[in-house]
Amino acid sequence: MRTASVLVTGASGEIGHGLIDRLAQSGRSIVTVDIAPLEPPLARKVRREFTGSITDKWILERVLAEFEVDLVFHLAALLSTRSEFTPVTAHEVNVEGTLRLLEFAQHEGESHGRPVVFMYPSSIAAYGLPDLDTKTRAGRVHEDEWNTPSTMYGCNKLYCEHLGRYYARYYKQLAVDTPPGRVDFRCVRFPGLISAVTVPAGGTSDYAPEMIHAAARGEPYACFVRPDTRIPFMAMPDAVDALSTLASTPREKLSRTAYNATAFNPTAKEICEVVVQAFPGARITWQVDKKRQAIVDSWPMDVNDGAARRDWGFAPRYDFRRAFDEYLIPTIRERYAA
Ligand code: SER
Repeated sequence: MRTASVLVTGASGEIGHGLIDRLAQSGRSIVTVDIAPLEPPLARKVRREFTGSITDKWILERVLAEFEVDLVFHLAALLSTRSEFTPVTAHEVNVEGTLRLLEFAQHEGESHGRPVVFMYPSSIAAYGLPDLDTKTRAGRVHEDEWNTPSTMYGCNKLYCEHLGRYYARYYKQLAVDTPPGRVDFRCVRFPGLISAVTVPAGGTSDYAPEMIHAAARGEPYACFVRPDTRIPFMAMPDAVDALSTLASTPREKLSRTAYNATAFNPTAKEICEVVVQAFPGARITWQVDKKRQAIVDSWPMDVNDGAARRDWGFAPRYDFRRAFDEYLIPTIRERYAA
């Protein structure tokens, strides 16, 4: 008998940390795949850890042989800044890796007779606005507007949203024997995420979390975007909530396969002000990296997440003030004090 389990790829990444805590609390058997070994406190919550790349087909074969997976959180990805330095590797991991996982989920579903729920975090990087004027005029963009990303990561995410929709609705549509069930693909298009317990690696919205963590460590920070830069953000507990809530929503309530979700959208200067208030010794300067700035400028200043609110009741707990006062600052303080 194979054990009924949930599979998490990219488990040791930022979202993985919070998500595994949440899944472990619910008592689920968790199987992970990550390129790096999990830290011991995380590893203890997991039934089986596979260390290796999602592009390695044998790892997924082993998971399929041993576990009856009914839910996948496919978090593994190379983020936007890193992907610009190694676009072909980014495509391999972000696109080919996702294709493998979708095939894996299809096969799992066929082997146990129930569609596998496939949770996929996409990103505001799926948008691409041509200039600042347009960005200002566009305001809160809807899922289907401005889908012209300018980064490899954004192209990868947008394409994988479509791949997921294909697997959910049209997979092998011309086959004589249509598969008994299709992958139940569900995607949250996230804004920049800010966690109190981890620092991101290789993203372009990283200036916000980097600024906060540097101040808490008493280190100087040179912010790589202009003070007036504005994009949407969300605190990590809300991101984990969003994924868990969407995963457990009855299928018939969902009118889309990909949903915007957001919480607050301060400028870099507003973030800096709150950080300086919390850590009065913070030394924050501005040293704009024009190329990374151009990427952030191509992302919307806000997104319309009305569909997520209507269909599955998305309602973030943390607005800008509460995210800092009740989550980021106390948790980060405690972390660095320890
Ligand atoms: N935080 C991501 C990045 O900056 C965007 O999804 O790449």
